[in-house]
Amino acid sequence: MLNCRDTNEITREFLDSILVEQRLIGSDLPDTSIEIFSKKFQTPIMNAAFSHVQGMQPEAESAAAEMGAGIRAAGALNLWGMCEDDEFPKIAAKDPDTIRIIKPYENEDKIYAQIECAKAAGAIAVGMDIDHAFNRNGEYDVVNGEEMRPKTFEQLHDYIEAAGDLPFVIKGVLSTFDARESVRAGAAAIIVSTHHGILESAVPPLEVLPDIAEEVGGEAVIFADGCMDSGMDVFKALALGADAVSVSRHILQNFTRDGAEGVTRRLNEMTGELRSVMARTGCHNLREINSSLLWM
Ligand SMILES: Cc1cc2nc3c(=O)[nH]c(=O)nc-3n(C[C@H](O)[C@H](O)[C@H](O)COP(=O)(O)O)c2cc1C
Repeated sequence: MLNCRDTNEITREFLDSILVEQRLIGSDLPDTSIEIFSKKFQTPIMNAAFSHVQGMQPEAESAAAEMGAGIRAAGALNLWGMCEDDEFPKIAAKDPDTIRIIKPYENEDKIYAQIECAKAAGAIAVGMDIDHAFNRNGEYDVVNGEEMRPKTFEQLHDYIEAAGDLPFVIKGVLSTFDARESVRAGAAAIIVSTHHGILESAVPPLEVLPDIAEEVGGEAVIFADGCMDSGMDVFKALALGADAVSVSRHILQNFTRDGAEGVTRRLNEMTGELRSVMARTGCHNLREINSSLLWM
């Protein structure tokens, strides 16, 4: 499209424009552990909702389950995206601390069936990427032959009711409007995301994050994704209001090359990088990371 900019480029530029202040006196090695949905994790870094990884690890019976094993070994929370009901239990069996993100299917029965499947498989939460309704030609999107549709407040509210005790996560929030509506509908968490640039010239997730965090006011967990390629990027996201972050394309190359082990290694390295920035900015734990440490 004419005069549009690549959202990933804008996001990268914004991230790199943020600088960090050093604070050493009284500092020490930090604790990066975090509790999400009553479960403890060693790191606030998790994978972003993935799908379509079949073939990236041809040896594995289920490439998705293989990746889940790598994420679990890093003590991280697993997020999984589009998959069918025969595959999700295999993923959850390798890593029960998995959130299932369901597509915004036109087929409502399929959505409710996938919510039930997530419950039965012992997922720790379920959710929907509401940003996948449209394609770039101004039509409803079709993914793997499945029609997608935008969702109303009432529909989201009904999914959340159907999930019952299972926390519901709304992915693809990029405005205070959608953040407010998500919380009002009963979402336990939101993911501030551009879905790797689904809307061109979109505001970077981290630029809108402080306003979203203020709007949410602690009523939902906030995850952020988009070009989270290092522990430094993660630190900036946490300082601007995220509770945890998701990494997607950056760990795919490690997965393709070295399977689960590659995923574990890179997540561990990123947590080490985060620990290093925290130590040099006087943050003893994740709660102490805040925007006063950033120079915008
Ligand atoms: C191969 C691949 C598959 C993805 N599948 C899904 C999906 O099924 N559901 C979803 O919500 N997001 C999906 N995403 C988007 C990611 O969850 C994430 O929002 C996006 O890639 C931005 O993070 P990044 O900049 O770290 O790549 C996928 C991304 C990739 C690269």
